[in-house]
Amino acid sequence: MRSQALRGLLLIVSCASFGGAWAVPARAYAHKVKESVAPPRGWVKHNPAPDHNIVLRIGLPQPNFSTLEKHLYEVSDPDHERYGAHLSKEEVEKLVAPHQESVDLVNEWLETHGIQENDLIRSPAKDWVTLRIPIRLAEKMLDTTYHVWKHTASGDAMVRTTSYSLPSHLHDHIEVVQPTTMFGRFKRSASTISWPEDSETTASLQNLPPIVDTVSGTKVDASCNSTITITCLQQLYNAVGFVPSSEGNSVGITGYLEEFANIQDLQSFYADQRPDALNSSFEFFSVKGLLTHHLPVGGLNDQTLSEAGAEAGLDVQFAFGLSHPIPATFYSTAGRPPFIPDVGTPTDTNEPYTDWLDFILSQSNPPLSISTSYGDDEQTVPESFARRACAGFAQLGARGVSLMFSSGDGGVGDNDPDPATQQCFTNDGRNVTRFLPSFPASCPYVTTVGGTTNIPEVAVSRFFSGGGFSDYFPRPDYQKKAVGDYLAALPKGTYEGLFNPNGRAFPDVAAQSDRFRIFLSGRPVLIGGTSASSPAFAGIVALLNDVRLANNQRPLGFLNPLLYSKGVSGFNDITIGHNSGCGTLGFNATAGWDPVTGLGTPNFGKLKELVIS
Ligand SMILES: *[C@@H]1O[C@H](CO)[C@@H](O)[C@H](O)[C@H]1NC(C)=O
Ligand SMILES: *[C@@H]1O[C@H](CO)[C@@H](O)[C@H](O)[C@H]1NC(C)=O
Ligand SMILES: *[C@@H]1O[C@H](CO)[C@@H](O)[C@H](O)[C@H]1NC(C)=O
Ligand SMILES: *[C@@H]1O[C@H](CO)[C@@H](O)[C@H](O)[C@H]1NC(C)=O
Ligand SMILES: *[C@@H]1O[C@H](CO)[C@@H](O)[C@H](O)[C@H]1NC(C)=O
Repeated sequence: MRSQALRGLLLIVSCASFGGAWAVPARAYAHKVKESVAPPRGWVKHNPAPDHNIVLRIGLPQPNFSTLEKHLYEVSDPDHERYGAHLSKEEVEKLVAPHQESVDLVNEWLETHGIQENDLIRSPAKDWVTLRIPIRLAEKMLDTTYHVWKHTASGDAMVRTTSYSLPSHLHDHIEVVQPTTMFGRFKRSASTISWPEDSETTASLQNLPPIVDTVSGTKVDASCNSTITITCLQQLYNAVGFVPSSEGNSVGITGYLEEFANIQDLQSFYADQRPDALNSSFEFFSVKGLLTHHLPVGGLNDQTLSEAGAEAGLDVQFAFGLSHPIPATFYSTAGRPPFIPDVGTPTDTNEPYTDWLDFILSQSNPPLSISTSYGDDEQTVPESFARRACAGFAQLGARGVSLMFSSGDGGVGDNDPDPATQQCFTNDGRNVTRFLPSFPASCPYVTTVGGTTNIPEVAVSRFFSGGGFSDYFPRPDYQKKAVGDYLAALPKGTYEGLFNPNGRAFPDVAAQSDRFRIFLSGRPVLIGGTSASSPAFAGIVALLNDVRLANNQRPLGFLNPLLYSKGVSGFNDITIGHNSGCGTLGFNATAGWDPVTGLGTPNFGKLKELVIS
């Protein structure tokens, strides 16, 4: 599938003249504005976009998505008779396929602009059409003018517009066209790195008597209160001595922003913390972003030690260290800003989740537990696009994949962990103060992981565990009771107008997130962020899948309906701490679910009984 798609793209690239597309008169349909956004905060409009090619992604409606969602909830609900009856790739594709009428009308429109079937790449379900065209043609098709926009603080540049139009008869047949109005700045969630004393080895830290954790009741090495290792997590989360043994299990990590996971660092980490995993590695996939550069370049895997990515190293070392010997995969997806206008071949892209989704949805056996430690401020991802990316995650859930995302490191604010530079204003032209939820953390079809620290565990406060309420997605049924209870206990009027009390609330769960000892560029470092908690939780989920598979049961798939029902008793409730942001103290960790640490941190020993009962 994939290689076919890439051949298609190469074909377009080599077809430089584009068949004299401009000579074909477009049929005269009146254009009507499809989407319009206020000029985004922090971005300044520069020159009109120079001539270059742009890769447009057109999303056709998925009229049966509500049926897919119904299936997703049924097969993920442990009390439903269909629990575990996951859908096949083909069944899912049928449920997200557009109406033939939409396909035909979009084809007709593309043809009037000289674009033929073999110029297109279609997703397997035909719900996405991707094409590479000169920007002047895109401007004509969308009745818009693209500009170079610069992000003042970072200097990043992108080619975008604040409004685009479509012929009015296509409004019901095209849901979204990007890149147009998307000003997201995709960020990793590993915020804090520090360098431990050279003399501080894991062994020397373990010479103190153990701590008995008052929350979980487990015995933990004293060193774990200052440095987190694989052993610490096994002790704290009650997984000591568990050895995965089933067939058919798998775990995956996604990497973006040109990061790769260094194998030599992984071996140093294993030698330090997981000697029985020495010499084991992971499968590497370079995901070639269709929306990216002038040629389809893949994600990086340069194994130069000094170039290793901290985020990728953290994710891989802890997720795979916890779940060894479950087969592991690392995906490096290319594609992101900046657009470099001075260079002849500018880069220009959307956020790349959809590139990864194209790839992973085309695989027949995606990993069963996958963690991603990246996110955007929800408001910088246009709602129409966020919905489609979220719908992509639902498709994976329906097929039996558990998806973990970090909740962000900026508390209730944007993803900036520094309160001094945090910006908490709406992007909608009103410029009012508001808490800023993260996406995909706010997608109801994923499991969002917040952060804790110390023993006994409290909500992390060196940076703050991202948490809050989506402005896009309504609250799903599975969390109505838990979140309702939390809100009912909030004093009336608390933070009124700063958050959407009817939104999808997150995080769902939490895990340790600070002072993780990893190996980076050949030396040990301590690193923190909800970037650490998400792969740690994904590692535990991989172990739980092992328990299910060994018991001849289906993998867990989309976790939340289970976690919020009979899963609750398998979590250590975190009740201390809060998640400051936007000049406030944020929300409090409380008894029961809260928008700081969710349901709490996992007790594997309890969960492994619950998931097979
Ligand atoms: C999609 O929904 C329509 C009705 O809304 C139904 O007739 C059709 O069978 C559904 N298709 C699939 C593949 O479930
Ligand atoms: C762990 O460290 C925290 C913060 O320094 C401290 O408050 C707590 O008492 C320590 N826990 C134990 C068991 O010593
Ligand atoms: C890893 O490989 C080395 C060299 O081949 C070998 O000596 C060592 O026993 C291996 N370790 C494990 C845990 O397999
Ligand atoms: C939004 O409001 C804040 C605070 O009043 C102000 O500092 C900022 O410049 C405003 N931004 C825009 C784009 O108007
Ligand atoms: C958090 O707890 C503190 C101390 O009990 C209280 O003063 C504050 O109002 C609480 N904040 C919220 C948002 O619940």
